[in-house]
Amino acid sequence: MLLGDLSRSDFQHSLSPVFARLCQKLKALDLVNLPLGWQDLEEGVRMNVMEFETTLSEGKKAELHRKFVDIQLLISGQESIDYGLAQPNLALFDEYREEDDYQLTPEIEHKNSVILQPNMFAIFLPYEPHTPGNAVNNQPQMLKKLVVKVPVELLNS
Ligand code: CU
Repeated sequence: MLLGDLSRSDFQHSLSPVFARLCQKLKALDLVNLPLGWQDLEEGVRMNVMEFETTLSEGKKAELHRKFVDIQLLISGQESIDYGLAQPNLALFDEYREEDDYQLTPEIEHKNSVILQPNMFAIFLPYEPHTPGNAVNNQPQMLKKLVVKVPVELLNS
């Protein structure tokens, strides 16, 4: 998991070249006015722009992906995301949906959480479980965010 804030001029220093390039492209967008829905960030790299209300984290399942990295960027509002960095025990997850590239678990082992402010991003690598969209201080609120789906093959290019 990688964290950063696009507002900083040096945000890319902790990022590999691929993530630095994609985040630079995000920074160049008019994020607040970005239309909702799926769109291309660049050829072969899709992103989904969403608006929704955060919910309490209790009882929510965590997801992990195998073929895509998530770059989750908060545009407005506040969002808490639970995550785990330990190698996941896949026996605790349900079946992997190859088509949609996800599987779920009721519990993240050695769970941590991070609170995103607008312009902050969290990058979840394959096999890093995460539960996004959680309310901060148990106060549900509307947020706008986007998730870039980065094919893992790009990491080696
Ligand atoms: Cu995800």
